[in-house]
Amino acid sequence: MTLYMIGIGLWDEKDISVKGLETVKKCRHVFLESYTSKLGVSTAVLEKFYGKKIVLADREMVEKQAEKIIAPAKDEDVAFLVIGDVFGATTHTDIFLRAKKEAVNIVVIHNASVMNAIGVVGLELYKYGKTTSIPFDNANVETPYNVLKENKKAGMHTLVLLDIHAHKDKFMTVGQGIEFLLSVEKKRKEKVFTEETLCVGVARLGSPDQKIFAGKAKSLMSADFGGPLHCIIVPGKLHFVEEEALEQWK
Ligand SMILES: C[S@@+](CC[C@H](N)C(=O)[O-])C[C@H]1O[C@@H](n2cnc3c(N)ncnc32)[C@H](O)[C@@H]1O
Repeated sequence: MTLYMIGIGLWDEKDISVKGLETVKKCRHVFLESYTSKLGVSTAVLEKFYGKKIVLADREMVEKQAEKIIAPAKDEDVAFLVIGDVFGATTHTDIFLRAKKEAVNIVVIHNASVMNAIGVVGLELYKYGKTTSIPFDNANVETPYNVLKENKKAGMHTLVLLDIHAHKDKFMTVGQGIEFLLSVEKKRKEKVFTEETLCVGVARLGSPDQKIFAGKAKSLMSADFGGPLHCIIVPGKLHFVEEEALEQWK
């Protein structure tokens, strides 16, 4: 009897690891955390590949009714699937600690996360500062701008995650993210993020048609990145190898 916390990767049903797949197949209950990220395939495709029925765990279930996931793991094997990695960006540490307190045996099976897959862009992962995210409801929000400001001061790169309302199939685009940052710049006027700021727009990382464009904010704003998910990277101080890497996306 174990709670298996399994990262299933970034794009499709085959991104799960061999260890993850073997484990899901033997579990009695399979939950999929369904609100903080999105795969390129439907739950039905996962169910077919795993040969298992999947229960979608929305925010309410994971944050307020975690018992529904933890309690069965006292007597049976339970898989809690997370898109990307279990502890990438959204950490799910709460559910881990709760299960631990209840003396439930826990096994974590890792996978790629947006947090490390962005390495493909060519900016050193060691040189990223604090990650920030832009919510849809952002009328009075300035935190992403402040994070950018601090990272920029330290010469660090910034990963900007963009909001997603998975249940409504709504996701924020690179263009909307840039528009938001420019709107804060308009209020603050501190030249932290202007139309001339170099950015990297990233879409569908890990998929066969992932898109990466580097350029000035104003040019990325009108570029077509296609379907979900999107994120933005604002480079800090660049090493010449990083500069060379960015050239390929321009
Ligand atoms: C909370 S994070 C996802 C955390 C996930 N557990 C992981 O490890 O990747 C979700 C946000 O990351 C970004 N993201 C996730 N997967 C992505 C992908 N494949 N391509 C581009 N951006 C992605 C999007 O901005 C999305 O709204």
